[in-house]
Amino acid sequence: MKKCLEYALLLIISMLHGSLQQRIIGGQEVEPYSIKYQASIQYNNYHYCGGTLIHRQWVVTAAHCWRPSYLIKVVLSEHNLSSKEGVEQVFNVSRVLVNYMYSYRTFDSDIMLLKLEKPAEFSANIQPAVLPTSLAPLQGGTFCTVSGWGVTQVYSYYLSPVLRAVDVQIIPQCQYYYYYRITDNMVCAGSPLGGKDSCQGDSGGPLICNGYFEGIVSWGISCANKYFPGVYTKVRNYVSWINWIIENDNTN
Ligand SMILES: *[C@@H]1O[C@H](CO)[C@@H](O)[C@H](O)[C@H]1NC(C)=O
Ligand SMILES: *[C@@H]1O[C@H](CO)[C@@H](O)[C@H](O)[C@H]1NC(C)=O
Repeated sequence: MKKCLEYALLLIISMLHGSLQQRIIGGQEVEPYSIKYQASIQYNNYHYCGGTLIHRQWVVTAAHCWRPSYLIKVVLSEHNLSSKEGVEQVFNVSRVLVNYMYSYRTFDSDIMLLKLEKPAEFSANIQPAVLPTSLAPLQGGTFCTVSGWGVTQVYSYYLSPVLRAVDVQIIPQCQYYYYYRITDNMVCAGSPLGGKDSCQGDSGGPLICNGYFEGIVSWGISCANKYFPGVYTKVRNYVSWINWIIENDNTN
């Protein structure tokens, strides 16, 4: 019964998010396996969210990508989702930890950790992203790269089969665009002219600025619209939480 309710609730929540959900537009296919920390999070063998490998056994994604651990798999060293390239590494997930401050209403603290059942083997195709160390604010205009298998057109339902990336810029004063819905745990990025953004299916994936993992694709209104930049979870605010979880984890 409880499972049923949980499932119904999950469906409603995911429907609500469907309309707001972040979603790569205006980018290009990446050199296969060049984004070595990129993870595909899959449910029933279908990609539904991105993620970022930060440690042999841990992947960071968005809290709104939550599903019970036994229903999801994490795929590393993936490029074309619709072909078995033979270099993919597939993992079961043993723990799913949503940040305790996450609010599904405001999308504040939209961050979640996934523990891989077995450690990933680092290789030429698999390397972790680097967590931010600087406390200096991210300057408006800084160039960042966001990657994912999300839709490539605003009103499309079709995911990109291949991994794509686009360069976006940190947008300052994001409150102005979103009428005070931007908390201190969020950062906005986009193109001042529009046309470049993350979109549906990119959720949970990495925004990398100057070599550091600074953002998680979280939400936005529409995609690639210059009046509504993409909103990302500000990873630097969660570095101590992430490190605490990893250091205090006693499970296998
Ligand atoms: C991805 O793989 C499928 C199946 O092998 C193939 O038909 C398709 O052309 C590939 N897509 C790209 C963009 O390489
Ligand atoms: C995941 O777990 C299931 C059930 O225990 C097992 O059959 C399967 O081989 C595991 N898959 C991977 C990729 O380890």
